[in-house]
Amino acid sequence: MIKLNFSSEIDAEEVKRILGEIARDPMGGWLELPRRYDMGEFARIKEAAKKINEDSEYLVCVGIGGSYLGHRAIIEALRPKSETKVVYAGNSLSARELEYALDEVGDHDFSINVISKSGTTLEPARAFEVFKQKLIEKYGEEEARNRIYATTDASKGTLHDEAEASGYTRFVVPDNIGGRYSVLTAVGLLPMLVAGVDVDKLLEGAAEAVETAVEPAVQYAYMRYALDAKKYDTEVFASFEPSTMYFNEWLKQLFGESEGKDRRGILPCSVIYSTDLHSLGQYLQDGRRNLFETIIDFPTDDMNAKVVSAVRIAHTEGGIPVLNISVPSFDEKGFGELIYFFELACAVSAKLIGVNPFDQPGVEAYKAELKKLL
Ligand code: PA5
Repeated sequence: MIKLNFSSEIDAEEVKRILGEIARDPMGGWLELPRRYDMGEFARIKEAAKKINEDSEYLVCVGIGGSYLGHRAIIEALRPKSETKVVYAGNSLSARELEYALDEVGDHDFSINVISKSGTTLEPARAFEVFKQKLIEKYGEEEARNRIYATTDASKGTLHDEAEASGYTRFVVPDNIGGRYSVLTAVGLLPMLVAGVDVDKLLEGAAEAVETAVEPAVQYAYMRYALDAKKYDTEVFASFEPSTMYFNEWLKQLFGESEGKDRRGILPCSVIYSTDLHSLGQYLQDGRRNLFETIIDFPTDDMNAKVVSAVRIAHTEGGIPVLNISVPSFDEKGFGELIYFFELACAVSAKLIGVNPFDQPGVEAYKAELKKLL
């Protein structure tokens, strides 16, 4: 169970109201998801993962933002063993980056999992076209269709329409779950299964958290709110495990897109220690005092644990409020719990500052400008 080293003053009536609002929100489907998982869909995802493991040395995962970061975070953190290597494409518009991914796949057998809820996002659409051509050149039109797995909306969007017309295997991003809350849907589950993540354990951890993480998530949200009110407007997520770098990226997206609107919200940043003690460490110790630090404290070896203690003491003495979130295990179960904890804490935090946790109007602004330029 997740444990905190702090407690905050909470308003029980307000918490009840906020949790009720999240549960009733048309985008609140992730709240009960781990307890009400669609087992039919799960069996289909497992079957697809098995086929990909049998016929592909590479799975090219095409997606961006919430359709990308969550599964990469877990795969990179746990480094599970698998015959099939997952490579990523469509998370930028850099032709160089696309070239690197194409080179890595080379002449190996591969399949594509194209993931886009809207089915219209430019970055994955472009990468998908390029990899689809490669697939067709290698296997011909018919076999290429058998090697494309589309995770998208149930009934609309360009990707949905193409997938239906071409007969790709399709998985659904539920209507009531937005991108950055979707890692425990087919969006994350298919790539994670292919990569060898024990997804049953991940869902088990998340399901337990539906009960056990509510209290700590609410405490943490109220603490963030209190710190923000005291002008601590920057949160530094700190981990002492280098392989959790992408988990930090997932956190930044989750909090940044959920809270950063109407000129409000805490700015999420991240560090990996002890690496970053030799770069941002100086700023943290002696720079502006507008930041607080949230340590994600995994079980670790003695030496690393001493660094955790040293940082906690030095930064507290340096005037940084240090919050400690201790995670019971560095495995699928621990990460399942952590995902749910942060999703809930983030939604409650956004509600406390009075913004909608589930939209991202600011992202649309850049998309509209780019469309004009293209
Ligand atoms: O959290 C979100 O909604 C966004 O980050 C989306 O996941 C991201 O923009 C990608 O969108 P889509 O899945 O529609 O391609």
